[in-house]
Amino acid sequence: MNDKVTQAKEKFGALIEEQLKRIEVMKQGDDWLDYSTINQIKIGLCFGDGIGEIISRHAQTVLEYVLKDEVVKGKVIFKDIPGLTIENRAAHKKAIPDDVLEEIKECHVILKGPTTTPQAGDQWPNIESANVAMRRYLDLFANVRPVKIPQEGIDWVFFRENTEGAYVLGSKGFDVDDDLSFDFKVITEPGAERIVRMAFEYAKNNGINHMTVVTKSNVVKTTDGRFSRTAFRVAKEYPEVKLEEWYIDIMTAKLLDPARRRNFRVMVMPNLYGDILTDEAAQLQGGVGTAGSANIGKRWSMFEAIHGSAPRMVKEGRAQYADPCSMIRASAMLLRHIGYSQRAKKVEMALEICGQFEKKMVITGRDTGVTGEEYTEYLLSWVDNPELESAWNQEVDKISG
Ligand code: IPM
Ligand code: MG
Repeated sequence: MNDKVTQAKEKFGALIEEQLKRIEVMKQGDDWLDYSTINQIKIGLCFGDGIGEIISRHAQTVLEYVLKDEVVKGKVIFKDIPGLTIENRAAHKKAIPDDVLEEIKECHVILKGPTTTPQAGDQWPNIESANVAMRRYLDLFANVRPVKIPQEGIDWVFFRENTEGAYVLGSKGFDVDDDLSFDFKVITEPGAERIVRMAFEYAKNNGINHMTVVTKSNVVKTTDGRFSRTAFRVAKEYPEVKLEEWYIDIMTAKLLDPARRRNFRVMVMPNLYGDILTDEAAQLQGGVGTAGSANIGKRWSMFEAIHGSAPRMVKEGRAQYADPCSMIRASAMLLRHIGYSQRAKKVEMALEICGQFEKKMVITGRDTGVTGEEYTEYLLSWVDNPELESAWNQEVDKISG
């Protein structure tokens, strides 16, 4: 009896030490990378597996098209980093093999395709998710996920804390004995503060006067309690932005309430709540295949789809019908992040025209719709169309008028 308690205490002790060290590193803090001072921006392409490889190629086509002059001038360079497939990760028994991580670190930003996350009972060794590992290794603390449904006036931006919560020790829980298992949820003061601050800055810079912090602090009192307290403390520095707290359960309900949901604008939350809520939000936008996400850190940033590698689609021979919009949206976020806002806006307008307004080409994930390649070609014809902006404005006027 005592043995297992002692062993558990030792394990818990080691976890506490590890987290205290992480806090120290966070407190020292890097400076933000300033892309305008970089002579040549290096974009790493990590395409993953399953549908990841296919839809990432389409996103690459869009990026290369939009940045072609920069590539010629040598302002931007693309680098293929092929080692993030499940086969290679399984062979190395590592979430991200060392040499792949080194290559990633040589880049400034990464476009990352969905990667298979092993789960108990499947054919793969039970290694950690490549996404979760990359977010932690590169300290990509902010997962920014926009969801827009213009016809409904919905313009949401989710700021999901990306390096702690239920994820940071997600692979380090343990069974004390045959009957008792523990996982851990971790919220730190600097970890909560940096994501909350980023959300407030976004609200302030975009003239948005209210923000929502999503927790379950009435029940998960210590960690969510800290997250919520930190949000209200930081809120005092942003008097122009009114902060409200909503609990995750009612929040998931309210995203389905057509009378209420457009009132939400900027939402900030711990990791797992953000994971769940953003899938729900993306589904309302047209499916998880339509949503992209930015994983932002001070030194590196990574842009990806919000969904997984859909092995079922591959198995059923439907991979070419997978929706590339998630990765194309991620590419637009990447463009904005490295300073090409106008071009990002063009890609986003084309995505909205194709996916929300015009709907001439429809992706169904099966042969009842067009392939990802056909969709991308069509989208690029809009990006290139001199009428793009006026066509988009007309649609937006129709809604607001
Ligand atoms: C996401 C994904 C990942 C997560 C998985 C693939 C580990 O669902 O990016 O939302 O849970 O964060
Ligand atoms: Mg998710």
